Amino acid sequence: MDTRSIMRTAPVIPVLVIDDAADAVALARALVDGGLPVLEVTLRTPAALAAIERIAAELPEAIVGVGTVRNAADLAASLRAGARFAVSPGLTPALAAAARDSELPLLPGVMTASEAMAAMEAGFDALKLFPAQQAGGIGMLKAIAGPFPELLFCPTGGISPENFRDFLAQPNVACVGGSWLAPRALVAAADWDAVRRLASEAAAAR
Ligand code: 3PG
Repeated sequence: MDTRSIMRTAPVIPVLVIDDAADAVALARALVDGGLPVLEVTLRTPAALAAIERIAAELPEAIVGVGTVRNAADLAASLRAGARFAVSPGLTPALAAAARDSELPLLPGVMTASEAMAAMEAGFDALKLFPAQQAGGIGMLKAIAGPFPELLFCPTGGISPENFRDFLAQPNVACVGGSWLAPRALVAAADWDAVRRLASEAAAAR
C-alpha cells in the first residue's frame, strides 16, 4: 500500500506509546475491533520495535506503522520489525534519501510552506502536518491549500475528540493522527473495552 491508500483506509490513526510489548496485541486488537486498523507505534519506548513485531505477527488485519522515525537506522529497524509504513515528525535530506531506498512508505512531517516545498522536491505529496494545532490548525490547512492544492495531509498533534471532525472536513485532509485513542492509563489498566469504545467513536466519523 502506498501512503495515500493507507491515509484513506481509516479517518484516525491512533498514535501509540507502548511501554510493555506484552500489551501490544491486546491494544491493537481493541483499536482494530473498534474500526481503526491503521496504527502508529512510536519509537519512543524501548518496547516499540518488539510491539511492532508482535502486532505484525499476530494481527494481520492491523496495518501497523512506525512513528517518530528520525533517521535511516530507525527506518531500517522498523522494516525488519514488520512495520508497513513510517511516520516522521519532520524531514531531512538523509531521511528522504533513506525512504527512497526503502520499501517502507514514509509520511513525513512538515509545519511550514518551505518545508512542504522541500518535501515535494524530495518526492512526497502526502504529508503529516505536525504539530498540527500549533502550526495553525484548520486555518493553516485552508491557507496551504491555495499554493499547494496537490498536497494531502494527516494533521497530528493537538487533535482531540472535540476537534477531529472539523479537521476531517477539510478537503486536503485524508485522516488525522492522535494519541487520545490509547491513553496510557487505560493501557496500564488493560481496559480494552474502553479503548475499543474510543476507537468506535472515532471510526464513526466517516
Ligand atoms: C505525538 O507527537 O505524540 C503525536 O503528534 C500525537 O500528538 P497528540 O498527543 O497531541 O495527539
